[in-house]
Amino acid sequence: MPAKIVLGAQWGDEGKAKVVDYLTQEADVVVRFQGGANAGHTVKVGDAKFVFHVIPAGILQEGKKCAIGNGVVLDPQALLDEIDELAERDISTAGRLLLSQSAHLVMPYHIALEKAQEERQRDGAIGTTLRGIGPCYRDKIERLHGLRAMDLLRPDALGDKVRAGTAAKNEILTKIYAQDPLDPEQILDQYLGYAERLGDYIGDTSLFLNQALDQDQTVLFEGAQGTLLDVDHGTYPFVTSSNTTAGGACTGTGIGPTRIDEVIGVTKAYTTRVGNGPFPTELENETGERIRELGQEYGATTGRRRRCGWFDGPILRRAASLNGLTSIALTRLDVLDTLESLQVCVGYRCQGELIEEFPADPLVLAQCEPVYEELAGWCSPTTHVRRFADLPANARAYVERLSALSGVPTSLVSVGPERAATIPM
Ligand code: IMP
Repeated sequence: MPAKIVLGAQWGDEGKAKVVDYLTQEADVVVRFQGGANAGHTVKVGDAKFVFHVIPAGILQEGKKCAIGNGVVLDPQALLDEIDELAERDISTAGRLLLSQSAHLVMPYHIALEKAQEERQRDGAIGTTLRGIGPCYRDKIERLHGLRAMDLLRPDALGDKVRAGTAAKNEILTKIYAQDPLDPEQILDQYLGYAERLGDYIGDTSLFLNQALDQDQTVLFEGAQGTLLDVDHGTYPFVTSSNTTAGGACTGTGIGPTRIDEVIGVTKAYTTRVGNGPFPTELENETGERIRELGQEYGATTGRRRRCGWFDGPILRRAASLNGLTSIALTRLDVLDTLESLQVCVGYRCQGELIEEFPADPLVLAQCEPVYEELAGWCSPTTHVRRFADLPANARAYVERLSALSGVPTSLVSVGPERAATIPM
């Protein structure tokens, strides 16, 4: 099975990096296909902890190649910070990391604009990560001032583009948001520096990936954020600006859909969300607090506390259908080890009617009350378990119930952050 997409089935932070890291053992190439430094992918190997925002988690495994696809919005400084941090820890990226020439560049004015916008919105704010993601994708779609990685390879033309882009954004920053203008020459100097350091990494990732697949190599497509943060299919407008769903893996890398063999939806054994927006099973009580502390649910990128709630079956079913999931990878089962009883949302009551599907209309969603089924907890540690049959009976029943609700088989259960704390099914 050479091409596998691994993506989030909820609102992000599902533990995709751990799953990607585990599956990389059997892969040759790992590629990111959307998002940017808004992602925070944490991997634990032995005592060492790595947090990636840009580089695919696969870089940790020797000999594996990594790519950053055209669908990613690339913050060169964030990327260089990661390259340098890996180098300090004796992990080389040279010759192992390829950046798409077509990936758009996050510019300082994208970040400045986003901060000003979110500040102005206050109560209506999306609660973004302030990494310039939305404004950068806006420039890409608008087609007036978008800068791409390939522009770094043409320093002579870069100046005009940076000056034009900065001038246009300075108008908005100063006239609409009463902010100080940014200095285009300073930005140019900064990006010329990036060009020098990143030039050798830039190339045609679509060609590279298609050739890898032609040679029967295994390629993992590493998603960022999650299905319900998809700009088309998520809880709009409280979403990110890219397609986090399976189709994004094709458009974000230049791979045809016929090449994809598996789509693995990573889901937590409960639900979390960072930022604003609807969350039907949210627990704003002691149990929510307990799950947050047990799971240490604080953002890897922004440090924000994650909102926590019970597992939501209609969300997973929706993710299965939107992505054509072939299996689910269930993570953080161990976080629930000490809870005496668990609630699982099996549908919603909406204006007196019972519905099983997650509604796409936010006004309908706002009227939905979760309908719960109670399952007994297992009240014993699972982190050491390596075979499904060795899990406590109640934990097995829980996993099986979630799988049944989604209509998709479970291919893997994670019982701890370590690579080894994984139960293949
Ligand atoms: P943006 O992607 O920074 O524009 O933020 C848009 C929404 O997506 C906000 O609610 C963020 O909290 C959320 N978001 C973005 N990246 C992640 C992530 O990696 N994990 C979880 N939520 C995220």
